[in-house]
Amino acid sequence: MSRKFFVGGNWKMNGDKPTIDGIIEFLENGPLDPDTEVVVGVPALYLEYVRDRLPKNVCASAQNCYKVAKGAFTGEISPAMIKDIGLNWVILGHSERRNIFGEDDELVADKIAHALDEGLSVIACIGEKLEEREAGQTEEVVYRQTKAFADKIKDWSRVVIAYEPVWAIGTGKTATPKQAQEVHKKLRQWLWDNVCPSVSKGTRIIYGGSVTAENCKELAKAADIDGFLVGGASLKPDFVQIVNANAGN
Ligand code: 13P
Repeated sequence: MSRKFFVGGNWKMNGDKPTIDGIIEFLENGPLDPDTEVVVGVPALYLEYVRDRLPKNVCASAQNCYKVAKGAFTGEISPAMIKDIGLNWVILGHSERRNIFGEDDELVADKIAHALDEGLSVIACIGEKLEEREAGQTEEVVYRQTKAFADKIKDWSRVVIAYEPVWAIGTGKTATPKQAQEVHKKLRQWLWDNVCPSVSKGTRIIYGGSVTAENCKELAKAADIDGFLVGGASLKPDFVQIVNANAGN
């Protein structure tokens, strides 16, 4: 089963209107590989601004949302609101949400399940911390994080899994293609064993953590790496090269 290459840009809490205009300009100029699906994760406040200006081949995504449609949850946004402004994507379970804002596996799973029920597509993030890797717990951690939401997913066609080892995020320490492929392959096997073969074959598993224009082509060659979730480099024109990393593979 072929999996369309997927490159997400996660702007995190960065950008103002002039910066965003610059990003939109390099996305417009591209050219972006038509065989790659491109989604950019935008601060909630700018979602509509970006929606109105993005080229047609790029979608805007929220970076977070809550687990219910509406109510007394000051500061939160809901999947229904994201849909209401005509957008279809959300990033959930990012390590910064988990580790800075204390979101646990159960909350992340509830958010993913609700976002899918409301019709959104989800970039579901997982990944181990440095101390967990060093303690030999990488598999245990990523399986536990995946199981928490896998148990609640009915429709996998709108799920992209982002494996982002926390030690590689924003550190310049990229996982080697071998390290990343090893985890991606195990995750695919986990999906085969615990969900079903078609979900294992069809679900995109993308890599995030210090992806750059320099290292993206080697990473893209790995059999089970179906794209990237890019932080810092998604704010720079280098992002175009990362979108095009799979061209010719
Ligand atoms: P960096 O690419 O800046 O390491 O960030 C990765 C990330 O967290 C994407 O979600």
